[in-house]
Amino acid sequence: MTLATREEIEEKIQRWTEFLFDENRSVGMFYCISQDLYVTLAERYPLSQADSLTENGVVLNPKHAGACLTELKRTESFVNGLALAVEKKRSESTKPVRIFYAGCGPFATLILPLTYRYSAQDIQITILDYHKQAVDTAVDLIRLLGKEDYLEKAIVADAVTYELAPEMQPDILLTETLQRALTQECQVSIVQNLLSQLPESVLMVPEEIRVSGLWTQLSDGSDNRAAETSHDVELGTIIRLNAETARSGSFIQSVVGQARSHPAQVFCLQTEIDVFGPWKLLRNESGLTCPHPMEDSRIVAGQTLQFEYEVGEHPGLRQRQPES
Ligand SMILES: C[S@@+](CC[C@H](N)C(=O)[O-])C[C@H]1O[C@@H](n2cnc3c(N)ncnc32)[C@H](O)[C@@H]1O
Repeated sequence: MTLATREEIEEKIQRWTEFLFDENRSVGMFYCISQDLYVTLAERYPLSQADSLTENGVVLNPKHAGACLTELKRTESFVNGLALAVEKKRSESTKPVRIFYAGCGPFATLILPLTYRYSAQDIQITILDYHKQAVDTAVDLIRLLGKEDYLEKAIVADAVTYELAPEMQPDILLTETLQRALTQECQVSIVQNLLSQLPESVLMVPEEIRVSGLWTQLSDGSDNRAAETSHDVELGTIIRLNAETARSGSFIQSVVGQARSHPAQVFCLQTEIDVFGPWKLLRNESGLTCPHPMEDSRIVAGQTLQFEYEVGEHPGLRQRQPES
């Protein structure tokens, strides 16, 4: 196997970037270009497939973190949403916009395209990941592409406990460390930790993550990409995680139980993500926003249902026992 040269990698990343920002592109071509880029990078950088289990949740392994690049709609929404957040900050100040990217993965996927749109005087980047291999690979790739002027700092650390140095004053906090329904991974703990150290002027990408209750019929397949049907019963928003609610710890709401409308329906948690501005991930638009069956739920029509978000080895939403 011959590894791609620096020029070939650069050309593929530039092409991929053009497609990411081009709303009129062919989706089929975009898919092929993303797959091809991922395969090229995965060949150059053999990566570990071992997740890390921490007391605050699972940390996705570098191989699968890198593969997130091929989640087209997710990657497109995050990259374009981040670009809008940069624009907003640029309209407020002439200083470089400083971006803190927690959970950068091995290819710094969400930030790399912006280095083809902005100069190093426009944006400065700090990357952080739990896995040293992810950070080392991202730094190597950034250097290979001659983009080291953009890199303010590269940090190997747990973002759940990381303490920012006083001189680190980012304008934007970027993190995509989640699975659907905010289960398993550390997104909630990460944003709570980092936001608690940052001023209110900091923009968070994604801006808001909502998780709602939903009775729906699941189609077969591991992704549970249920077809939206007129029989679905929506119970309302249970988690609303944005900068304000993360800071105050008030991101959980109760909902009133409703009966299912069909015996085959399963109670699910439905995630939606407002990345930034008009860039959103709605139902079934990505693996992060497919219905997630909630085991052990007890949904009683007319009863107020209360929930709590458990942080720990297996973070996630749990239903509180109804008061008798
Ligand atoms: C879902 S992947 C996303 C990778 C890349 N940012 C992207 O969007 O394509 C999540 C990344 O966050 C990192 N991560 C998860 N939890 C973390 C934590 N507590 N501290 C630091 N990094 C973490 C993982 O190692 C992984 O590289």
